[in-house]
Amino acid sequence: MTPLLFALPDSHALFSPLCRALPAEPGRLEFRRFPDGESYLRILSAITPEQSVMVLADLSRPDQRLLPLCFLCDTLKELGAGRVGLIAPYLCYMRQDTRFHPGEAVTSRSVARLISERFDWLLTVDPHLHRYHALSELYTIPAMAVQAAPLLAEWLKARHEPLLLVGPDAESEQWVSALSATSGHPFVVGRKERRGDRDVHIELPDLSAWRGHSAIMVDDVISSGRTMLQCAHALTAAGIKHIECAALHGLFADRIEDQLQNAGVSRLVTSNSVPHPSNGLELTPLLLDPARRLSGTL
Ligand code: R5P
Repeated sequence: MTPLLFALPDSHALFSPLCRALPAEPGRLEFRRFPDGESYLRILSAITPEQSVMVLADLSRPDQRLLPLCFLCDTLKELGAGRVGLIAPYLCYMRQDTRFHPGEAVTSRSVARLISERFDWLLTVDPHLHRYHALSELYTIPAMAVQAAPLLAEWLKARHEPLLLVGPDAESEQWVSALSATSGHPFVVGRKERRGDRDVHIELPDLSAWRGHSAIMVDDVISSGRTMLQCAHALTAAGIKHIECAALHGLFADRIEDQLQNAGVSRLVTSNSVPHPSNGLELTPLLLDPARRLSGTL
């Protein structure tokens, strides 16, 4: 039986491609906000226990989206859905994965609990796993993380000029080193000191050997964008003339795109995990088989 796919709260760039390719029947719903900000939700599609249901969610700016997502899942189950899976290409609340200071909320655990208590499975793309090594340490439902690095590798294949892959910080080393191994382009990794949410300092190693190269900064997430911005400044200061920027999840919380351009970034590319004009890496093909497998429709 063809699964049903809902998207909440807005249309998502991946919704139509996923409906076509899975294939899945587009779920119909009505969603709006009351004047005081509360959510109104009505499911218009018929729900039967036999039909597998999936929800595609953009979980960037999650505080305004998680509650409607809970309402959707709860309502689907109340209307008789047997299994409801969540496809969240960008998985939010992964940074606060420990109590760094006494009294802090470990929000990654709370969000994992909120999702695990409702949904039957979770599919995401390259979650920011740092102190946790696998989603199963957080989520109690089957949770699969697809790796999008092959998309970046594919994107690099067409590039034949001398390139230098640049990871702005130690955490990005996993991406740049893997990309370097598949593409053959050299890589360097910077040292990042984070002094505040929007205050980072990046130090790059000696780049004199790479002055004629085009630099491609690679990271998993662009959140405020300060990491990429400071990295671009450091590359310019080191004499690199051509700078590009690639990230798997582009949140652009501070609308920093113009500042990146002013800092010399000539090209910005992200996956369509979070809708943004820079989306150039298409996730649909990576999500199909995992979604079919998790939903039991393969
Ligand atoms: C952190 O280690 C991540 O890989 C990113 O570097 C970080 O989330 C980027 O944050 P921002 O864009 O706010 O500097």
